[in-house]
Amino acid sequence: MQRIGVLTSGGDAPGMNATLRAVVKAGTYHNLEVLGIEAGYIGLLEKRYRKLEILDVEEIVSYGGTIIKTGRTKEFQSETGFKKALANIKNLELDGLVVIGGNGSMKGAQKLVDAGVKVIGVPGTIDNDITGTDYAIGFDTACNIVTETVDRILDTATSLVGDTPRVFVIEVMGRHSGEIAMNSTLAGSVDGLLIPELEIDYDEVADNLKRKFEIGKNYGIILMAEGVGKVDDISRELEMRLGYKIRETLLGHQQRGGRPTFFDRVLASKLGAEAVNQLVKGENAKMVGIKNNKVEVTDLKVVNNSDKEFNDKDYKLNRILCY
Ligand code: F6P
Repeated sequence: MQRIGVLTSGGDAPGMNATLRAVVKAGTYHNLEVLGIEAGYIGLLEKRYRKLEILDVEEIVSYGGTIIKTGRTKEFQSETGFKKALANIKNLELDGLVVIGGNGSMKGAQKLVDAGVKVIGVPGTIDNDITGTDYAIGFDTACNIVTETVDRILDTATSLVGDTPRVFVIEVMGRHSGEIAMNSTLAGSVDGLLIPELEIDYDEVADNLKRKFEIGKNYGIILMAEGVGKVDDISRELEMRLGYKIRETLLGHQQRGGRPTFFDRVLASKLGAEAVNQLVKGENAKMVGIKNNKVEVTDLKVVNNSDKEFNDKDYKLNRILCY
């Protein structure tokens, strides 16, 4: 094995750069040349790449985003596009490829494996919706941003007194997953949680708020995952039940920016280096992840063919904490 490629694909996630650092350092340590493929699978289609050496990654562990850019493309899914990507991989003489990204990226990785390319996946997505790992890179940073937002809203919520209680609804990311909302609810002062994994019971959320107002609380904070709908619609439903105006926050892409947390940097360092180790050992078609605080390797097929298990215990705990 002489030359490997690395790409970041799908939505960028804080910690992708830290992963790149680990891949390049581990690759160089094993005397491998490392090519950074730019803009995810787009780079494979358009032959956009650059050699990554120690000095290219020396300072990036603390940077948000990804220095080799990321991308989403439909062309890679098409027969002609895919053939083009395969031909470019052959031309570049890549002996292996590390794919850092979310579910869509792991599906792309599997497609390459099926066509004979050696690929190891690394889970990088704030959504944390990938099977085979307790945590994906970027999730912790996103949850920290949400937690800080809840804290900030709490400051104003507890300070300003009005004629009616003040209720705040915060929409967070996660695509079809409630992981960010659910874990941030565990960490913050939240009165209600709405996630796409479970049916929404607006009456229950409103009744819980009313009960809290009766015992003397004069504000409420609700966290909703984007997968349940739009913050305006959810707020209207609650307004109808409560009878007064709701304050809305759409947190958006802030959740994907900023410096990665300590946790994400450590996770990225471990998984990036392990991905290279796997290639060096001759492994293929795997994803490296973290399970019960240990680095674990899962078949890409398993990752791609099963939904991440819903953490019912955490959800039940949230109900108690929101009560
Ligand atoms: O997958 C990461 C993610 O941030 C999702 O949480 C969100 O739904 C989506 O990407 C947003 O994508 P875009 O940046 O294209 O708007």
